[in-house]
Amino acid sequence: MSDPAINVDGLVKLFTRRGQPPVRAVDGLCFRVEPGVIFGLLGPNGAGKTTTLRILTTLTTPTAGVAQVAGYDVVAAPLEVRRRIAVVIQASAAELLLSTRENLLTFARFHGLSGQELRRRADRVLEQLGLTEEANRKVQDLSGGFRRRVQVAKIFMVDTPVVFLDEFSTGMDPILKRSLMHALQEEAHRGRTIVLTTHILSEAEELCDDILIMNRGRQVARGDLTSLKLLSQGVYEVTIAFDELPAGIDSALAALRPLRSSVNGHTIEIALKEEESRVLDLAAGLARLGHVRHVDLSGASLEDVFIELMEES
Ligand SMILES: Nc1ncnc2c1ncn2[C@@H]1O[C@H](COP(=O)(O)OP(=O)(O)OP(=O)(O)O)[C@@H](O)[C@H]1O
Ligand SMILES: [Mg+2]
Repeated sequence: MSDPAINVDGLVKLFTRRGQPPVRAVDGLCFRVEPGVIFGLLGPNGAGKTTTLRILTTLTTPTAGVAQVAGYDVVAAPLEVRRRIAVVIQASAAELLLSTRENLLTFARFHGLSGQELRRRADRVLEQLGLTEEANRKVQDLSGGFRRRVQVAKIFMVDTPVVFLDEFSTGMDPILKRSLMHALQEEAHRGRTIVLTTHILSEAEELCDDILIMNRGRQVARGDLTSLKLLSQGVYEVTIAFDELPAGIDSALAALRPLRSSVNGHTIEIALKEEESRVLDLAAGLARLGHVRHVDLSGASLEDVFIELMEES
């Protein structure tokens, strides 16, 4: 078996503030990520996702434990780690003062690219990310979504074996997001390892081969989507599209005590943890409330798994 792209063992990060108990932002995490995998770090606000990424990218040091990237320890050999990673976390002040093109060139020069090859690659990446028109504008003058594009563009400028993305899709329009997700999958097929955090579970569902769900600095679940879904066996999603939303639907939904429910136009969606036969009865009961166009029953989504795990942890 090849060496893991990431190896984390007993990782701890404490933040101490005077007069207050320390925050255990990361509290004994252990995981390995194999090369060529898209690995998703999921969890609610404050779970410790960004802190974990900051340790792995040498931006902050761990309080205890081991973190290795591409075979190098983040504390003992931070420069070796930095040479092998591309990181999208937060724009620094210096980056904001440079133009879009200069940002890409500077980043790639740090990774050893130069000359014609560098310029050709910059042109290609600018085109790929829809940034050609912004090439000569200072990043500080761009909108939030475009700034994010500039940051994400950098990972395509280099061939580092490992890529880290913290909430990569923030502020991006859906069309760009889609093409970017496709591009990330291609990078992984070429053998790059991609570690990302996201709040958008459908993104993780579509993109990640391997998912770690964390809460309060600790792992609460780990696996590919299929095995995570098994964790919430007995959770069913019911979607019913009505011609007209029936009166009293809100109280009818609440009475079922669903894990979650939403009403979108004339369509309701609920997640129930029940026996399958009972779910069918309940769905039929709801359907009788109005004139139904379409009923759909399916197994749990990542969102259901997530909600259930957060309630347990
Ligand atoms: N520099 C810091 N000083 C003190 N506490 C910090 C610091 N950075 C993070 N924390 C705390 O560590 C915990 C984990 O924060 P972190 O940013 O890693 O969470 P996250 O999972 O990325 O959350 P979000 O989804 O909101 O981005 C939080 O309680 C946070 O307040
Ligand atoms: Mg974060």
